[in-house]
Amino acid sequence: MKNPTPEPLYVTTPTARYPVLVAPDALHMLPDLLAEHALHGKLWLICDSNVAAPYGTPLMQQLQAAGWQIEAYSVPSGEASKNAEQYGQLCTWLIANGVERGDVVLALGGGVVGDLAGFVAASVLRGIAFVQLPTTLLAMVDASIGGKTGINHPLGKNLIGAFHQPRLVLADTRLLRSLPPRELAAGWAEVIKHGVIYDAGLFALLEQHATELTQLEEPRTSSIIRQAAAVKVAVVSQDEHERGLRMILNYGHTLGHALEAATGYGTLLHGEAVAIGMHAAAGIAVTLGLFTPAERTRQQALLHTYGLPTAFPTTTDPQAVVALTLRDKKVQQRRVRWILPTTIGAVTIRADVPAELVQAVVAEPDALHPSRSEA
Ligand SMILES: NC(=O)c1ccc[n+]([C@@H]2O[C@H](COP(=O)([O-])OP(=O)(O)OC[C@H]3O[C@@H](n4cnc5c(N)ncnc54)[C@H](O)[C@@H]3O)[C@@H](O)[C@H]2O)c1
Repeated sequence: MKNPTPEPLYVTTPTARYPVLVAPDALHMLPDLLAEHALHGKLWLICDSNVAAPYGTPLMQQLQAAGWQIEAYSVPSGEASKNAEQYGQLCTWLIANGVERGDVVLALGGGVVGDLAGFVAASVLRGIAFVQLPTTLLAMVDASIGGKTGINHPLGKNLIGAFHQPRLVLADTRLLRSLPPRELAAGWAEVIKHGVIYDAGLFALLEQHATELTQLEEPRTSSIIRQAAAVKVAVVSQDEHERGLRMILNYGHTLGHALEAATGYGTLLHGEAVAIGMHAAAGIAVTLGLFTPAERTRQQALLHTYGLPTAFPTTTDPQAVVALTLRDKKVQQRRVRWILPTTIGAVTIRADVPAELVQAVVAEPDALHPSRSEA
């Protein structure tokens, strides 16, 4: 028997309310959902080059058959496309072909295309509607939800952008089957992160059903991805513009971003660097007496189960990594705001972590002297 389509989640902020639908065949529902949400204009499909043939072309045919006018543009895959030049080319394509205010940008791809196409939609004609069609696990549980759009600048990642909420997010979990295994694992890092920061039940399900989930078996996979997406939905609904709570999504990212910069972008995938950053942040939390060694070991075991690393590459220079944490966007008055776990399912924000402690954890992650006894 066919499983019924799950109820959508809803992001509700002071500026927007939109559904996030996670299901194995979600893309088939796009024509109906566009009509239901009064998105009747011409469609401009911006597609990652790796998904254009398998998913972009059939989607275009499906929408044309349903009576939509649609144009498509394929963006070369990879982070390098999230730049001002590619952004300019997309704007030129839209303007030269007569884009109008009532039209809709469809972003089909991972976080790169979602961020880039979202920023194009946020700015062309001072903003038109857009729909997120995430094709990576990271984008399904994180990047496609919450309206952060943007591009990179030669001086740093994601430095230019805008908040522009999508009108609809449709995550078709069938599409994950073609994702390279390392990219899939990188996405699981964000799912595990959502468990640690907000949802102990999600964390336990990830432990319990690891075999089914790593094989992408349905209906379990879409149900767990939906539960992980619900964490992002809940957080951004409470704090659209990252004035407080939304910062908790940064767990593992302070050291993760520093490590990506120190090792050269592309050496480690973002999710891999986040996994290493989560293990190190948990180490800091143990030393401060916030988290138990047993909880940290539980987190490490889960990261390993989903194919993720937790050790710094042997070539890492702890001093250089710590210096790079000061470039984090969440730094205020040169104080890094650390997201640290207090148990599985909850975190706290601390701005008083000594740089020497961070350096010690990066240098010797497992040589800690916990001050809180095992639960
Ligand atoms: N806006 C936000 O809130 C937010 C949050 C987190 C991350 N991000 C951004 O997301 C980006 C990373 O996103 P990502 O990890 O999805 O990377 P990505 O978009 O580069 O996709 C990863 C790779 O997978 C390929 N791919 C995508 N879907 C596929 C599929 N179904 N089958 C086969 N191959 C497929 C892509 O071509 C690419 O090579 C970064 O730029 C990051 O800054 C944004």
